[in-house]
Amino acid sequence: MIYLDYVSTTPLNHEVNQMYQTLLNDYFANADSIYSLGLQTSSLMEKSRDLTAQLLHVKANEIYFTSGASESNNMAIKGCAFQYQNRGKHIITTAIEHSSVYNTCMQLKEIFGYEVDFISVDEHGYLNLKELEDCIREDTILISVMYVNNEIGVINPIREIYDIIQKKNAKIKLHVDMVQALGKIPIDLSFVDLASFSAHKIYGLKGSGVLFKKESTTLIPLVNGGQQEKGLRGGTSNTATHTMFAKTLRLALENIDEKYKHVAMLNQYVRNELEKEDCVVINTPKEDVSPYILNFSCVGYKPEVILHALEAKECYVSTKSTCSSHKNDVSRTLSAMKLSQNVAQSAIRISF
Ligand SMILES: Cc1ncc(COP(=O)(O)O)c(C=O)c1O
Repeated sequence: MIYLDYVSTTPLNHEVNQMYQTLLNDYFANADSIYSLGLQTSSLMEKSRDLTAQLLHVKANEIYFTSGASESNNMAIKGCAFQYQNRGKHIITTAIEHSSVYNTCMQLKEIFGYEVDFISVDEHGYLNLKELEDCIREDTILISVMYVNNEIGVINPIREIYDIIQKKNAKIKLHVDMVQALGKIPIDLSFVDLASFSAHKIYGLKGSGVLFKKESTTLIPLVNGGQQEKGLRGGTSNTATHTMFAKTLRLALENIDEKYKHVAMLNQYVRNELEKEDCVVINTPKEDVSPYILNFSCVGYKPEVILHALEAKECYVSTKSTCSSHKNDVSRTLSAMKLSQNVAQSAIRISF
């Protein structure tokens, strides 16, 4: 089998799997129970929080365990929008976000009356920073931008966006969806107020994520309940899953440079081979991109036909973001890049 859809999800790391089984069997007690079984479970979960914080160079009380990046994105964006609505109801995001950011912003706009600006990208997928700067207003409360785009791999300039915020309106909170950056390229959380992560993109468990929330940022909880996650996320803690996050992250960060070099080499090889084909247009630009993602179009061919032909050879690729793969329309990212219809409609994404 040749699996080339790691952006969609990864197989489960063997060590993670084994330890998870042990935790499920032996540490089942409720982490909020005050007898020793509960305390042991809770202590493992808190160790995972400490290690996750250390690996991300932040404080342990800035790490919140979630069910994945979709939840982290919802928590960050809606939580921030509700918390800071007295300051204003204006949010800025981009035209190429994952659906968990895009649809959250659309809900805030259509149901809760927020104003949302979706910043455009050029034909290569690079963000229009001038437009972003011009959109910032006195009543802007949040900017949500992904670090690495999950369809074409473009890396957004988070540091520059932070500098623009400092210059124009330093009160604005910056949320970054870092799902496709984690374990692949360096991450610096010192410039951001909120960041979302997912375990199943780095050989971890599905239904496992983290929200980083700087101490100075406050959120309105979306799931009210007990004291879990400092009152930000009610419900009995999924302790075995949360405990596994740190180990998953530690393994993902091991030899990150060698893995990067290896993947960059694979990416270059595939790019070179694809460029030899007349019908192929490469949609991923060459600079400021993650080598883990390569998007191209076989113009004149239906991408599903190519996907299934490759599948017959046990090679797995995807046609666009898996979260919208059941819809027939062109991907939002490729539409935002204003690629010609026949290029946008025939796109294939491979990820290493
Ligand atoms: C950029 C990005 N954000 C968010 C998500 C959602 O992650 P999860 O599956 O953990 O909810 C994904 C995964 O598809 C993604 O690629």
